[in-house]
Amino acid sequence: MGERNQFASKFGTMAAIAGSAVGLGNIWRFPYVAGNNGGAAFLIIYAVICVLISMPVMLSEFVIGRKGQSNTYRSFIKSSGKKGWGIVGAVEIFAGLAILAFYCVVAGWSLEYIFAAVTGEFASFSGGDTAEIINERIAAMGQRFDLFVGQGGTHILSIPRPIVWTIVFLALNCIVLAFGVSKGIERCSKFMIPALFLLLLVLVIMSVRLDGFAAGASFLLKPNWSAVTPQTIMFALGQSFFSLSLGMSAMTTYGSYIQKDQSLVSVAFIVVIATILMAVLAGLAIFPSTFTYGVEVTSGPGLVFKTLPALFASLPGGPWVGIVVSSVFFILLFFAAVTSSFSLLEAGTAYVTEEWHIARKTLSRPVALTILFVLVGTLSVFCALSQMEGTSLIVMGESLFDFIDKLTSNIILPLGGIAACILVGQLMSKDVVFNELTSNGQFNAKLVRFFYWMARYVCPIVIFYMFIKGLE
Ligand code: TRP
Repeated sequence: MGERNQFASKFGTMAAIAGSAVGLGNIWRFPYVAGNNGGAAFLIIYAVICVLISMPVMLSEFVIGRKGQSNTYRSFIKSSGKKGWGIVGAVEIFAGLAILAFYCVVAGWSLEYIFAAVTGEFASFSGGDTAEIINERIAAMGQRFDLFVGQGGTHILSIPRPIVWTIVFLALNCIVLAFGVSKGIERCSKFMIPALFLLLLVLVIMSVRLDGFAAGASFLLKPNWSAVTPQTIMFALGQSFFSLSLGMSAMTTYGSYIQKDQSLVSVAFIVVIATILMAVLAGLAIFPSTFTYGVEVTSGPGLVFKTLPALFASLPGGPWVGIVVSSVFFILLFFAAVTSSFSLLEAGTAYVTEEWHIARKTLSRPVALTILFVLVGTLSVFCALSQMEGTSLIVMGESLFDFIDKLTSNIILPLGGIAACILVGQLMSKDVVFNELTSNGQFNAKLVRFFYWMARYVCPIVIFYMFIKGLE
């Protein structure tokens, strides 16, 4: 067996891991949830949860991966010394691939919208920006989106575009990953994450000029403690897990690629900070425009694919501003999505290349990726189809798309997080864990002791409590 894959540089490691974290979740969900749950009050709670609960989980997953030097399935077995734990690892890998399937659908939409933005579709509206006109445009954009995903229209396209874009997006992922961990994932992330940050800054600067900037910023940043309820804390925990890519084999796999002399605690800390910062910047880029034009703030696909496209044409400065800003926005969305999807696909790729054999030979990355392309691609197509009108792809009363989203976010993520904490906090020897976390004594053990204690006693209980509450 040859040398195992690794990230090549410290910065590249951070970029790849932050890339996994900063994704669609940060851009369309966080700002809205934060705004409606107390603004800065939510931010503070979110940050505290990220550091106290999510960071120990992230560190546990890094430890399992870096100690195991293998894919999530094998690393779980190696760390616990028990074969049964392999099942937990395998479930996480397949759940990750299932998330990837629906993630590709949404990411595919961003490709459609980059196209539309660049060709000037969102800047082409004419005539004023009164409330009435804006609302008409939102309705038009809503209909455009619905028709595109296959709702509310009788037209039957020969090949629905969402399916084409989904497959294009997945194929792009496979091509990048075929180049390998450092030459593919790391190289792309090193370019895309700084670019993402710059593009966000450009949008924030454009927003500052809008009349609604103060209102938008205060929606996100003014602390309103009276809006904080026990529900808020649940939202914060769920958001933090999804955003930091925990509980689902992504961080265990990336952990196994972190060089032995890099401090896991600093990686985790920087990734947490970067994720929060990007989410806040996304809010500052988005909300000023919704407040300027007095439109209702939503989250999710509605915000990004229906409301915002209707506002680009009204930006002061003429149509070219609309074209530039809308293009920048959807390119940014694409960068955020693609660097996140790398981590989900890589977890599967590591597993297939290391565990599957054909004629007693392990598989090369291109072969493994071809297999995954077919498997995930098929599920993705079903996800895309499940959103179209008259679909029969309904699981337990929900479209396959929503079903996978809920099953993975509400059940597998928290259980995966608890599993990592139990494994590291209870089953692995404390010395082994400490050696990993301090890189054999190279880094401060005091902080490490704190995180270890949290992972051992506090995190599993808190996460389990929230998990049960979430099921009610
Ligand atoms: N963190 C990404 C986002 O915010 C999504 C993601 C990537 C993810 N890898 C993951 C979520 C692993 C859960 C588990 O959009």
